[in-house]
Amino acid sequence: MNISDTETNHRFDHNLSLIYLDHNATTPVHPEVLEKIPLWAQYWGNPSSIHKVSREPKSILRETRKSLAELLGVHPLELIFTSGGSESNNTAIKGMFHKSNKRNHYLVSSIEHPSVLKTFEYLKTLGAEVDYIPVNQEGVFDLEFVKHKISNRTAMVSCMLANNETGVISPLSEISKLAHSVGAYVHSDCVQALGKIPIHLEELGIDMASFSAHKFYSLKGTGVLYHKRGVPFQNLIHGGGQERSRRSGTENILSIASLGYMVSKKDQVLEKNIKVKNLRDDMEREIISSISDVRIIGLTQNRLPNTSSLFIDGVDGETLLMNLDMHGICVSTGAACSSGSQEPSPVLRAMGYSRQEAQSSLRLSLGWLNNESQIEYFLETLKKVVLRIRSIKEVTL
Ligand SMILES: Cc1ncc(COP(=O)(O)O)c(C=O)c1O
Repeated sequence: MNISDTETNHRFDHNLSLIYLDHNATTPVHPEVLEKIPLWAQYWGNPSSIHKVSREPKSILRETRKSLAELLGVHPLELIFTSGGSESNNTAIKGMFHKSNKRNHYLVSSIEHPSVLKTFEYLKTLGAEVDYIPVNQEGVFDLEFVKHKISNRTAMVSCMLANNETGVISPLSEISKLAHSVGAYVHSDCVQALGKIPIHLEELGIDMASFSAHKFYSLKGTGVLYHKRGVPFQNLIHGGGQERSRRSGTENILSIASLGYMVSKKDQVLEKNIKVKNLRDDMEREIISSISDVRIIGLTQNRLPNTSSLFIDGVDGETLLMNLDMHGICVSTGAACSSGSQEPSPVLRAMGYSRQEAQSSLRLSLGWLNNESQIEYFLETLKKVVLRIRSIKEVTL
């Protein structure tokens, strides 16, 4: 496909030809952001230059940093712009490893995103000692394990604020208290939480946190790393010394402007998410009452307002996904990066579900512009497709 003549029909709108229920993979760009892009694209100057062409890009950087810091309850200079959530996670974790010479032990939740888990796998090859915090089938952390394993050899505990597959929210304040009681630091991947739940980093006791613009209706290519003053740090990318020498490379002004714009809508976020939660709860009630043998993961837990992760017994998740896709409905069976591979979700496996159960999983993640009629159409289609897949299976058995 030639990029110059690509026409998008995947607009952020109410149409029924495309029903997007995969917002934890990425969010559509907000229509108001789309409208503003031509204006922001005119601010092409390098924010590090000193002449007047740098004025607007500089002010975009400053304003976005300031408004995000207000939203998160931290100081603007504690925020570093990166290329995305993966880079923020890598920077926080590798930096801690390189700077905490005397402590070499890490506690990591077993249901982290691959950009955390694989970074720790890599650090193990360099000598780090890593223990994985078990999580039960409802997504509840084993805090006794943390109490048992944590010691004055522990450099850092890394635990996400909200899980990308189940939406279950972690007990971070408790984890932070345990970590700080032995002088260890806390890193949290907050990528899925931004724009969905209130986040006050200091109250949660988080020392480093990762964010990603494209999960919050903004353009891809920007992440943020919160680095609390005084916490050991080493930059991952060396070069021109941008971001106060903590992350070199010219900042992605267009994407940062879009994130800043979305953060400026913070007063609407609560209201939008209440609507999303009501839609999600109604959808779950209808699925449970109309389809047999369905289980919702983490139903009794504190969850993100938009996420629903379920097992539909006797139905292969990938088959379901492809059938729904043919009806214009976009869903996921696990983390986006693992879809397409035959491996069932590592998160669900780490929660103690069998391979077969994990293969029957479906992740629905709703967003701001989903509406009742879209969910009604999705539910009708889901019922038909599940019935068909189950009946074909019966015939072939
Ligand atoms: C929990 C979590 N962490 C990190 C990432 C990676 O973010 P990015 O795509 O910006 O690198 C994702 C994206 O799927 C995520 O869901």
